[in-house]
Amino acid sequence: MPYNMVTLSARCFVFAVLFNFPTGAFGNDRKSNRRNVLVLIGDDAGFESPLYNNSIIQTPGLNYLAGRSVLFDNAFTSVSSCSPSRSAILSGLPQHQNGMYGLHNSVHHFNSFTDLRSLPLILQKAGIKTGIVGKKNVGPEAVYPFDFEVTEEQMSITKIGRNITLMKDKASEFLSYIKSDQQFFLYIGFHDPHRCGSTKPQYGEFCEKFGNGEPGMGLIPDWKPVHYNPEEILVPYHVQDTPKARSDIAAQYTTIGRMDQGIKLMLQLLEKYGYLDNTLVIFTSDNGIPFPSGRTNLYSAGISEPFLLSSPEGKAKWGQRNKELVSLVDIVPTVLDWYGLDYPDYKLQGHKVQLTGQSLLPLVHKDNSFDSVPTNSDYTTSDQVGKRTFQLKPA
Ligand SMILES: *[C@@H]1O[C@H](CO)[C@@H](O)[C@H](O)[C@H]1NC(C)=O
Ligand SMILES: *[C@@H]1O[C@H](CO)[C@@H](O)[C@H](O)[C@H]1NC(C)=O
Repeated sequence: MPYNMVTLSARCFVFAVLFNFPTGAFGNDRKSNRRNVLVLIGDDAGFESPLYNNSIIQTPGLNYLAGRSVLFDNAFTSVSSCSPSRSAILSGLPQHQNGMYGLHNSVHHFNSFTDLRSLPLILQKAGIKTGIVGKKNVGPEAVYPFDFEVTEEQMSITKIGRNITLMKDKASEFLSYIKSDQQFFLYIGFHDPHRCGSTKPQYGEFCEKFGNGEPGMGLIPDWKPVHYNPEEILVPYHVQDTPKARSDIAAQYTTIGRMDQGIKLMLQLLEKYGYLDNTLVIFTSDNGIPFPSGRTNLYSAGISEPFLLSSPEGKAKWGQRNKELVSLVDIVPTVLDWYGLDYPDYKLQGHKVQLTGQSLLPLVHKDNSFDSVPTNSDYTTSDQVGKRTFQLKPA
């Protein structure tokens, strides 16, 4: 992007912020009937966490979130590719229905249909303040508008998607604009743990050196890098056990650690602004890990996703795991259900649009009435998350 365009979008951004959010007074006393949502998306994140049986990598941020969530063991994306998957997350319609058949960025240039009613559009119309920090990679802008946007469209994706201090600052800025009678939807798109060897080789294969404080790497003040020995990491079943794979996985773990610490920072922000007890938090990823049979493949390793759903109104089920089959197209119905909003009645290409996903709230709230799913006798809600490998911190 030429420099003058960067300046222009930065100006538009500042204007949008001032226009949409007159400054106000912010206290920590929030009315409990206000409901907010925080969506945390990892980029090519997989099951590298003690939550999913990996006893080597440390993910204290995810562990903490899991202690306030129901963890899903069988969550799937509708497609194993970045923009198409993100368009499904933000529209509730699979890529072939929303129009995003391929990548949105640069030369690929795929977009969703102009008449699509995306989640940010529906929420904006309902008066809910929307924010996005980090990776977006969906379009067109008119279909996916956010009131507050700091993404790869305003600055480099390495900075806004991997510098967790910067991401924290921008998320904090968004939260500081929310007035006491407003509700918000905040989407955080981590660029970790995506590979970066082909674009920024100086930072390592997974950008695991970016911001680590070593000469030329810059510093991310909130990040404490954790390093792993390639000999001790766990090679996934679908990856060949070679020295190159092992060194890649060790680097991937370090980068996952940065995302994990970023997740903790976001939860701390909710706490700081007094939103921990009225915000629904979702953590998942867009597609499988960038290894053979993972990302872009229609194998289990390509389409399975980690998935945590944290409802402050579902404390009785916190720390439990759930084996139901869930999909990322369930996110839109879940968020609409949380806010008490209906999906709009409209047509795309002459056909009435219907969501195929379902709200997951009944699965995480006390009154479990998910009537379309038969009770599975193997299914036990008393399995405590991660009992074997780590101790959950109290909320
Ligand atoms: C982790 O272990 C649990 C319990 O054995 C199992 O249900 C689950 O499928 C495993 N998850 C992964 C990602 O291997
Ligand atoms: C990360 O962001 C912080 C806050 O803007 C900044 O001080 C720091 O230099 C940035 N680090 C890198 C490596 O870009």
